[in-house]
Amino acid sequence: MTVSLTCRGLSRDFGALRAVDDVDLYVGPGSRHALIGPNGAGKSTLMSLVTGALSASSGTVRLGDTDITRVPEARRARLGISQTMQHASLFPSMTVAENVLLAVQRHGRISPLPRRHPEYTARVGELLARTGLDGRDDVGVSGLSHGERKQLELAVALAGDPRLLLLLDEPAAGMSPAESARLVRLIEELPDEVTVLFIEHDLDLVFALATEVTVLHLGRVLLSGTPDEVRASEAVQQAYLGAGRTEELFWSEKAEA
Ligand SMILES: Nc1ncnc2c1ncn2[C@@H]1O[C@H](COP(=O)(O)OP(=O)(O)O)[C@@H](O)[C@H]1O
Ligand SMILES: [Mg+2]
Repeated sequence: MTVSLTCRGLSRDFGALRAVDDVDLYVGPGSRHALIGPNGAGKSTLMSLVTGALSASSGTVRLGDTDITRVPEARRARLGISQTMQHASLFPSMTVAENVLLAVQRHGRISPLPRRHPEYTARVGELLARTGLDGRDDVGVSGLSHGERKQLELAVALAGDPRLLLLLDEPAAGMSPAESARLVRLIEELPDEVTVLFIEHDLDLVFALATEVTVLHLGRVLLSGTPDEVRASEAVQQAYLGAGRTEELFWSEKAEA
């Protein structure tokens, strides 16, 4: 069942610093929602408030009709929130198929079965196909290209049939144009039932992929709208043009990486 995410008046303080400041965010069922803004805007902190890695100082987070503000991270995962980690959640000494198998077992939709059980094999095969990794089953993680690792992370994140998928780090960071084009296609091809919220600095990719965009600036929502609305916005342009070219600011984190 397709699900929405709603944040209301959400704030998070670190000592005297209010990293996320009274944020209202609505991510509609099945949407592809991009979170953008310069380094330090509060994007990662906001994502952590959604995953449950951090607790809110005030405000609420709802998944569909369920208030999850005080729900621990592990239970949020069981409610259908899945994330790709900032630092890859892969086991480097294992193969592609073994990584996906572990993720499938961990989600335990299927009660514990022998590893070579056909149900597992079918599920792993389906996830590899969906993320463009068919035929790569027996390759070790260290033998994958950067883009393929991202595809595998996506397969692992999809193993529990999430209702809300959070792409915490910029999915396309460090990728060749061909790899990022492929990733865009994979995200586009995700089932409509999956609601996606993602952080991305590559504005071309954001405007190609997102159905809605929220711009954060100094912890606050500067604007939420369609890609066209965000692109045309005076407020967004002014906020970024203040310190240089728009593009440079959006790209600042990537340039530093
Ligand atoms: N664990 C933390 N402790 C103290 N300050 C933090 C912590 N995490 C983030 N911050 C601060 O909160 C602000 C927002 O950071 P972050 O959410 O990482 O922004 P973004 O992901 O948009 O770059 C920054 O000023 C950052 O230094
Ligand atoms: Mg960040």
